[in-house]
Amino acid sequence: MDVKKAIEETRSVRQYQDKEISEDLIKELMDAARLAPSGNNAQPWKYKVITSDKEKALLKENNVFKQDWVYNSPVIILCCGDPEAYPKGEFEEGLDDPYEARALRDLAISSQNLVLRATELGLGTCYVGWVNKPKIKKVFELPERYVIPYVITVGYPADKPKQKSRKNIEDILL
Ligand SMILES: Cc1cc2nc3c(=O)[nH]c(=O)nc-3n(C[C@H](O)[C@H](O)[C@H](O)COP(=O)(O)O)c2cc1C
Repeated sequence: MDVKKAIEETRSVRQYQDKEISEDLIKELMDAARLAPSGNNAQPWKYKVITSDKEKALLKENNVFKQDWVYNSPVIILCCGDPEAYPKGEFEEGLDDPYEARALRDLAISSQNLVLRATELGLGTCYVGWVNKPKIKKVFELPERYVIPYVITVGYPADKPKQKSRKNIEDILL
């Protein structure tokens, strides 16, 4: 599958087959994530791959997600950005973004690599921003400074969601 096709085929998949994802496939996803570009090549992303029933039950006990289907996903990838990954230099107002914004920006680029690679490998994914951040940090004892914009669920799709509409090119050009 080429990149164009992967972009076109990617959908938010929220229903998965009850089928395990092999460690080799997870490694492929993480390899795509790690190869992304980032400011200063700081690579601020940190991922936690959640596959065990025990960890999923812990998340459920703590009411971390708003939507129940998330707990039933074969893999839940917790996506974190570390604002301290960047070299500390002089901060020029208007030119340098705050460290949290940089971490979010670079994490998103890395995550989308992961998502497109998942599509290529026949896997379905969904970004889930409805995550209780303080709670998930507490459950996994993560540093307070981490930014956690979303988790990504992964699994073999149980259905093929319809394509959702997007703006036309003219509508996104300034
Ligand atoms: C950053 C981000 C956060 C999202 N959070 C959620 C979420 O919490 N729950 C959910 O069901 N879908 C979530 N989505 C999926 C969007 O609803 C979905 O991408 C959008 O409706 C377009 O549908 P499509 O991805 O199938 O094209 C999120 C997507 C992104 C990019």
